[in-house]
Amino acid sequence: MKKILLIVSGGIAAYRSLDLIREIKRRGDDVTCVLTKSATQFVQPLSFGALSQNKVYTDLFDLESETNIGHIKLSRNADLVVLAPATANILAKMSYGISDSLATSILLANNKPLLIAPSMNVKMWNNPSTKNNIEKLKKYGHIFVGPDEGEMACGEVGSGKMSKVEDIYKEIEFLLKPGPLKGKKALVTSGPTIEPIDPVRFISNKSSGKQGHAIAERLSKLGADTHLITGPVNIPYPDNVRVTEVNTAEEMLNACKNSIPADIAIFAAAVSDWKPTKNFQNKIKKSFNDGDLNLSFSQNPDILRTISETNINRPKLIVGFTLETENLMESARKKMLDKSCDWMIANNHIQKNKSVFNSDMNEVSFLNDVSDESWGLISKKNVAENLCIKIIEFFDNAA
Ligand code: C5P
Repeated sequence: MKKILLIVSGGIAAYRSLDLIREIKRRGDDVTCVLTKSATQFVQPLSFGALSQNKVYTDLFDLESETNIGHIKLSRNADLVVLAPATANILAKMSYGISDSLATSILLANNKPLLIAPSMNVKMWNNPSTKNNIEKLKKYGHIFVGPDEGEMACGEVGSGKMSKVEDIYKEIEFLLKPGPLKGKKALVTSGPTIEPIDPVRFISNKSSGKQGHAIAERLSKLGADTHLITGPVNIPYPDNVRVTEVNTAEEMLNACKNSIPADIAIFAAAVSDWKPTKNFQNKIKKSFNDGDLNLSFSQNPDILRTISETNINRPKLIVGFTLETENLMESARKKMLDKSCDWMIANNHIQKNKSVFNSDMNEVSFLNDVSDESWGLISKKNVAENLCIKIIEFFDNAA
């Protein structure tokens, strides 16, 4: 039996959460409800108590539960926290870390996966403030279900209706299912790094982040607690993944150091090997140096090598990526040994006359200490899938 903590905020859809409780109970799981003050204006706590057959919590300063530090304990005792319905107001509070009620304090102190089912008027949902808040909360790794489109209680039509109970329950079921990588912590680097020349110019490369993001998405779907450390990219972040945005190789290295201990580390980022030795504080003028500009570059730290060679908390499995325009396999094996990583994925730069950059396809070979195998030209999502199958096998064999 799994334990779900259901937080209900004050939207008209609060009454539909009663059906969600019935569904959770019907499947044999336990549910405890926390209501915001405004939720109690829509539905009586008694209804939640009767259906959940558990005490209903509404007040941060409820003496009995607070002597037991209720706002901490409630999430510690749960396997999953569900916020349904989630109003624009509670999402805004969460995005700013406000904890002015029992519900918002639980959400701030929560250490469990959080599923959010938004419900609000279409204009509220489309408001840029709400959009920014949602983007921020997704970056923290929270999972969203819905909202659906349709006619709202106010009569307006559009996106903002809380998802159907069966759709919310499907997500709950998926999140509670033990994935093969549940309990494993993974870090994935993705995208390019950018190295500043002056306040407006930089050097970088063409990496889109598609491969690294696909791997982070797959790891998370398989249950790994996944941290994506990414340079600037123009693609959406995967759901249920914690994201740290960085610019330079130095920043990426620091974020990786802060992310270990981890069980799995995948270095799919195209890290700039060099950075301009001097970072000019002001924009360099065309007249600078009477004409041509000569810049000198110094080497960036090698993140893969640094993490692979660390003695303390070295991740159990470290995977590097490499892309070459010549002698790919030979150079990939040499790099794997040289950088002390466990596996290497070797990218062919050109596939069918098209560059790998920004493509949805990838032509790769997989190398470990004993063999190499070509995976041919497949989608980046399939590369992620194949790699994750190998990762699951690795941990199964190690067990
Ligand atoms: O650029 P190179 O082929 O050496 O990259 C091989 C691997 O090393 C990749 O996994 C890349 O993410 C990583 N790398 C790194 N830090 C660097 C350069 C590359 O972590 N400065």
